[in-house]
Amino acid sequence: MYYGGDYNPEQWPEEVWQEDVALMRRAGVNLVTVGVFSWARLEPREGEYDFGWLDRVLDLLHDGGVQVCLATPTTQPPPWIGEEARNVSADGVRLTHGSRDTYCVSSPAYRAKSLEIAARLAGRYGRHPALAMWHVHNEYGSWCHCEHTAAAFRVWLRGAYGGLEALNDAWTTSFWSQHYSAWEQVTTPRATQYLPNPSQALDFRRFLSDELLGHFREQKEILAPSGVPVTTNFHFGDWVPVDQREWAEAVDLVAIDHYPAQDPPEETAFAADLARCWAAGKPWVLMEQAVVAYTGGRIVPRRPGEVARLSLSHVARGARGVMFFQWRASRGGAELWHGGMVPHAGPDSRIFREVCELGALLPSVPDAGDVRAEAAILWDTASWWALQSRGLPSSEVDYLDALRQAHRVLYRHGVTAGFAYPSADLSAYRLVLVPSLCLISDADAANLRRYVEGGGTLVVSFFSGVSDEHGRVRLGGYPGALREVLGVRVEEFHPLAEPVELSDGAAGPPPSGAGSPPDWGTGTLWSEHVHLAGAQALVSYASGPLAGLPAVTRHAYGSGTALYVSTRLADAAFARLLGLAPHPAGLELVRHDRAVFAINHGDREQPVGPGRDLVTGTVVESLPPGGFAVLAGLEAADAGDVRVGIGAER
Ligand code: GLA
Repeated sequence: MYYGGDYNPEQWPEEVWQEDVALMRRAGVNLVTVGVFSWARLEPREGEYDFGWLDRVLDLLHDGGVQVCLATPTTQPPPWIGEEARNVSADGVRLTHGSRDTYCVSSPAYRAKSLEIAARLAGRYGRHPALAMWHVHNEYGSWCHCEHTAAAFRVWLRGAYGGLEALNDAWTTSFWSQHYSAWEQVTTPRATQYLPNPSQALDFRRFLSDELLGHFREQKEILAPSGVPVTTNFHFGDWVPVDQREWAEAVDLVAIDHYPAQDPPEETAFAADLARCWAAGKPWVLMEQAVVAYTGGRIVPRRPGEVARLSLSHVARGARGVMFFQWRASRGGAELWHGGMVPHAGPDSRIFREVCELGALLPSVPDAGDVRAEAAILWDTASWWALQSRGLPSSEVDYLDALRQAHRVLYRHGVTAGFAYPSADLSAYRLVLVPSLCLISDADAANLRRYVEGGGTLVVSFFSGVSDEHGRVRLGGYPGALREVLGVRVEEFHPLAEPVELSDGAAGPPPSGAGSPPDWGTGTLWSEHVHLAGAQALVSYASGPLAGLPAVTRHAYGSGTALYVSTRLADAAFARLLGLAPHPAGLELVRHDRAVFAINHGDREQPVGPGRDLVTGTVVESLPPGGFAVLAGLEAADAGDVRVGIGAER
């Protein structure tokens, strides 16, 4: 288990380094990431190198028993770098040095200089005894629209489409006089008068992901001969043009940065489950988190015990390392208020004491085998990107919001869930949720059909299955590729400005003698004119233009069941649909092969078990607020049983 953070000794006089290492030892730190933003100090003038300070830092850390995750500093070139190495915005502005991430990976000058500094580091430190890991770059994700990028984009497009006519077809350039007659006419989606071509925008993100990945791979090739794992830290944001699914195959271990703000436990569970999906069996680590939270324009310290609980949540979901940005809070610079494991107040502080406590606890967390998820939520980067286009039927459909709701409902009911790709073998899951998967290939649609045929329960929500992988609509009725398995045909979308009432079952009066029907609340955001084509209505619209028509349907298909949810249900209604049992608020449970990890994020004592806590060796029957245990022999209290309620029972 790695424990530590980004260490930026170049921001401090050398006397402080001695204290740093002593404090790291006190805190149980065993790994620090060094050199992320050090290019200007390592190569102060082009071709003139200064490694002396880094030699001393690495030796000092090694003598102190702290291992090093050594970064290549390519995420921010020094001020001397030529203008051509910097990126150009969509409206044609060449960005200026002064912030960070100001580079263009397609620029030959940047590419050459960045590989050279990586090679110098590999040559000098590849055999250093402190070296445990390489950290390439930092949070890849910069965009560029310069001529080099445009040329590289054309090369990528030729590879993807072969001929120009195939590209014209995939991008539907017959619309708005966009038909290309020569490759030189094709460029990046730069600023334009009105709506850009959505297929072009989607391909540009795919290209950028590959182009950045090419740069990572080149660095990896330079660093790999040293024999230590090579990684880069994934940043998760809707502006990031990185398809983590593909990148995860290229790294030796997956590393994520995570800064939860609104609901830290739920956001942490979401991010950690996603990281485990990306890692697909490889180890993964939390490379950066913070001792503060950015909320609503404020930077607020994490509450007492919160740093430990969130860190343990990552560990419970499979993380093999818990790291921070950064070791020591900076005195100046753009992120001086960001906090650190050693805050401005110094080691005599609540934060540093909590950092030490966590460092002491982590080595006692047992290996309880793999996380055992019984439900999966499908994750698809292209659908996420496509749903960021302008010109959609509703500007309010938010892919992440749909995913977060699906995850939150399972999380709040104690169900151990994971994410999976639409092409994955899903047969191990009892339940698969498919939120707004708007783009789907024929092969992936067939995979989902097979899952249901084989006995699985698939719950698809609105605006799924509608387009092919280029964003072209599948004709004949929505949800396109999923019509057959869902047994419905949707004629129209009716995005909602106001909520609409929902009623139980098919339209019409309830059967006489029936008890009071469940309350499905309202549908919000979206609704659809659904025709049944084999499915039965479980919930209907009771107000609005679609009153009397099906809102939620169930279809028996093969040995399984496929549900379609054509509106946004409230969380409680979603949980009812899945038949989830009530679960104590704030109690996080994560099943592993040999135990259940339990964390109490709430402010009340919660009964769990009884089970034997593998951390302390004692029998635990309840968890106090902030409590943590790894419970063996907990079958009886193994909460979070998935029963797909109305789907299965009626
Ligand atoms: C990211 C970066 C760090 C730092 C933190 C805090 O995770 O990798 O360099 O900027 O955010 O904002």
